[in-house]
Amino acid sequence: MKVYPNVLCESGMVDQEKLTYHFQERGLQFGDGIYEVIRVYSGKYYLLEEHIDRMYRSAQAIKLRLPFQKKELYEKLDYLLDVNNIKTDVKVYLQATRGSALRDHVFPDVEANFYAYVQDMPRPEALLSTGVSAITLPDTRWQNCYIKSLNLLPNVLAKQEAKENGAFEAILHRDQTITECSASNVYLVKDNNVYTHPETNQILHGCVRSRIKILAAEANIPFYEEAFTLEQLQNADEVFLTSSTAEVMPIIEIDGKPVNGKTPGKVTRELQKAYQRDAHLIDTPNVQSTSH
Ligand code: PDD
Repeated sequence: MKVYPNVLCESGMVDQEKLTYHFQERGLQFGDGIYEVIRVYSGKYYLLEEHIDRMYRSAQAIKLRLPFQKKELYEKLDYLLDVNNIKTDVKVYLQATRGSALRDHVFPDVEANFYAYVQDMPRPEALLSTGVSAITLPDTRWQNCYIKSLNLLPNVLAKQEAKENGAFEAILHRDQTITECSASNVYLVKDNNVYTHPETNQILHGCVRSRIKILAAEANIPFYEEAFTLEQLQNADEVFLTSSTAEVMPIIEIDGKPVNGKTPGKVTRELQKAYQRDAHLIDTPNVQSTSH
């Protein structure tokens, strides 16, 4: 997948081939940093403000000073798409670490390292149509999953286990309570009601999740931020996940057992459509005139 040549870093725009780091780097040695993945459709950011706000919240939570004020970062991110001449579907990856310094657990007195780059990211259209399978695994992560931290080893191991079992995602549970997936939020549909874990420190507060909540309200689909159990998941009418790269992805099989006869359900389809309209991927139906 193509990575575009111009990379934004704390000192300005740099050619990706020329971007190097000292071997004593906090992100490499401690995972001491944060990141974001932002969706771009046809050269335009989707949910940009939500991602930037979350990045500053994550930075504050780990006491990391980002090199840019928000306003400056918005301008630079616009320029990043312009300078790479982006007109297609891509993702922008942003990362900030506590900088380069001799290894010591205590914070060094240095500036943060920052970069943002652009990579091609076609929409997963085939999977969005058919749905995907998932496995369930214990959630072995720390207690601050609302921080989009670079420490992703439990997520990486869970996603790899999913792959080795022929599945797309791992749905995680703490003591039988479903939290989220290794790289996405998860939802259950029962009697046309949508349930998902509340925005506590146990999950990442997904940008797509927050938009889906609004889109469900607009479509009069009851949306409950209430945790559900592994057993309730197994008895769900429909299950789906969301993320900036997977959009609204139907889950049609869990631990080898079919969900909704192995077909994406009605509510999932409706929310997929709402997402696509919101992101301008399909046309919004004309509002009918009520005048006579
Ligand atoms: N992952 N939960 C986790 C643990 C995630 O890593 C992600 C995103 C989400 C969904 O968040 P959002 O709707 O803001 O994309 C939920 C990104 C895509 C990644 O790590 O690549």
